[in-house]
Amino acid sequence: MTVRELQDEIFKLKRDTDTCILAHSYMAEEICEIADFCGDSYALSVKAKTAPNKNVIMCGVRFMAETVKMLSPQKRVYLANPSAGCPMAEQFGREEIEAVKKLYPDYAVVAYINTTAQLKTIADVCVTSSSVVKICKALPQKNILFIPDINLGSFVKAQVPEKNFKLLSGGCPTHARMDEEDVLAAKREHPNALFLVHPECRPSVVKHADYVGSTSGITDFAKASAAKEFIIGTENAIVQHLQFACPDKKFYPLSKDLVCHNMRVTTLADVYDCLRGVGGEEILMEEGLRAAAVKCIEKMIEYGG
Ligand code: 13P
Ligand code: SF4
Repeated sequence: MTVRELQDEIFKLKRDTDTCILAHSYMAEEICEIADFCGDSYALSVKAKTAPNKNVIMCGVRFMAETVKMLSPQKRVYLANPSAGCPMAEQFGREEIEAVKKLYPDYAVVAYINTTAQLKTIADVCVTSSSVVKICKALPQKNILFIPDINLGSFVKAQVPEKNFKLLSGGCPTHARMDEEDVLAAKREHPNALFLVHPECRPSVVKHADYVGSTSGITDFAKASAAKEFIIGTENAIVQHLQFACPDKKFYPLSKDLVCHNMRVTTLADVYDCLRGVGGEEILMEEGLRAAAVKCIEKMIEYGG
């Protein structure tokens, strides 16, 4: 089958099976085209809550499919490719964070959404890169234990100086691969380009940015900007999407190495197989775990608006 034929089959199958396809913005163009919604982690969480369908297929990584299941336990939720994990989400176990919590008993635990369901059960509130500043400002607590991403934590700490932050040393191996020399080299090559960066990058990278934001934030900024050239400091799928969306502008990757292999593993054929019931993995979650873990996501949506 050609890509187009496969997409036509997928459109038919998702209608026949009452399935909503959610895709994170790091998915390939041909997957975003068949998705009911493609966006950043925050927007995906909101859609997961409101999608009217009986079934949901998540094209993204495991914690995203788990988030859908937590918010919509009555739906059947599938991860299109079961091997798509997020290394950052797995970096700390519940016992490790509980031990840190004991050292800082008067700190609110703010967890990046890139965490396991187990970790979410001990968080006060969840955040995403697009909601982190708003939520940390709005929290009644002055002291915040931010888990697990040190780079996102450093970014929010600078944006919310009125609060006290304790940070852990976790992070995204894809974004952390970039350093200041990558930025200087890209700027030398494209001196007229604006630099748009994700806050999962190191502070030494973020300090050079013209704009810092989530995958959707970067996309919206680039589309609305009058500028014609952009260096994109996040997963290279965003470079591809923007080049399709704005053919008269030029988009350059910060580095050829800005590739998340976990996000790249899902294919259009995986989505097709999942819809046909011969692939993907249904997300099943014990009700006690789900009910405990969903509270911090509900709180995120309440504070995030
Ligand atoms: P956002 O889409 O929320 O910016 O998240 C980026 C990311 O790395 C998700 O794993
Ligand atoms: Fe996880 Fe980083 Fe990949 Fe996002 S880009 S899924 S944070 S490893």
